[in-house]
Amino acid sequence: MPEAQQHLAPASLEEVRDGLASAGYLASEAAALVSFLAYKLDKPVLVEGPAGVGKTELAKALSRYAQRPLVRLQCYEGLDEAKALYEWNYRKQLLRIQTEAAGTAWQDVQEDIFSEDFLMARPLLTAISVKEPVVLLIDEIDKTDQEFEAMLLEILSDFQVSIPELGVVEATTQPLVLLTSNNTRELTEALKRRCLYLWLDYPDAERELEIVRLHVPELPETITRRLIEIIHMIRNLDLKKPPSIAESIDWARAMLLLGATDIDRSLFDRTMSIIVKHRTDLDVVAERVGVKLDDGVLGQVRPG
Ligand SMILES: Nc1ncnc2c1ncn2[C@@H]1O[C@H](COP(=O)(O)OP(=O)(O)OP(=O)(O)O)[C@@H](O)[C@H]1O
Ligand SMILES: [Mg+2]
Repeated sequence: MPEAQQHLAPASLEEVRDGLASAGYLASEAAALVSFLAYKLDKPVLVEGPAGVGKTELAKALSRYAQRPLVRLQCYEGLDEAKALYEWNYRKQLLRIQTEAAGTAWQDVQEDIFSEDFLMARPLLTAISVKEPVVLLIDEIDKTDQEFEAMLLEILSDFQVSIPELGVVEATTQPLVLLTSNNTRELTEALKRRCLYLWLDYPDAERELEIVRLHVPELPETITRRLIEIIHMIRNLDLKKPPSIAESIDWARAMLLLGATDIDRSLFDRTMSIIVKHRTDLDVVAERVGVKLDDGVLGQVRPG
């Protein structure tokens, strides 16, 4: 690791956790530990877990905390090397050939047009060839296919890229790499072996309360508590898509806008679609949770 990078590397796990908190991310013990180790061991981190639990945000927060630019590769089906790694600038190459005086040896032109001047770096190449180290986020890797994963292995283990016409491009700086996955398919063992692993799950009530408070500090504490209590109850139902942290935050924002002083049945019914987004789930939640609100089983709002 270059000296400058070493200098900025955190000295302890607590330093990372506090640093992330000051960057607006309340990390679990596991998330803080893996982030710390990623720094120290120079290993990529594979973050898996349900939607909306803070996988992408962890990378963004690490970038803010470490004061490194974020280079993001958003994965999708059909993503290929040309969009992820590098691409030759054909237009520029063509112009170069056209401006070449007749009679120039093809060999000379060829050497020229396959030089770095004609290369367009895409996120992966950018992340290892910039001067200052970055945080590289490879988001939703499970959307790509296994061939793409195989291509990634060279970068993740050796921090280099082989370009047939140019040779091997070695990393000038080492990025902090985070890969996220929603688990829509099993990733290859080869990829997993090269990464540290973090499973992010829904947080416990106390931490989620802190997270929502951080995002919506103006909402009265009692309402925030009640809201989290209801969210956790909904998560325990067998739903197609349980509400995530993202939905808790949205719901809290809505409560604030509506000036809610309590979450009663009527308000719940009107705002339920902010947290539950499947037709069948809505029915289940209305029946199981709405009724409890009617009965007052969820109890009176506890003082904060
Ligand atoms: N630990 C946390 N501290 C602060 N905010 C958080 C935390 N976890 C999640 N959030 C917030 O929750 C929201 C959702 O997070 P994020 O987009 O990172 O989820 P995700 O896991 O990447 O979801 P998806 O799989 O749908 O992409 C964001 O607004 C983020 O700021
Ligand atoms: Mg995400």
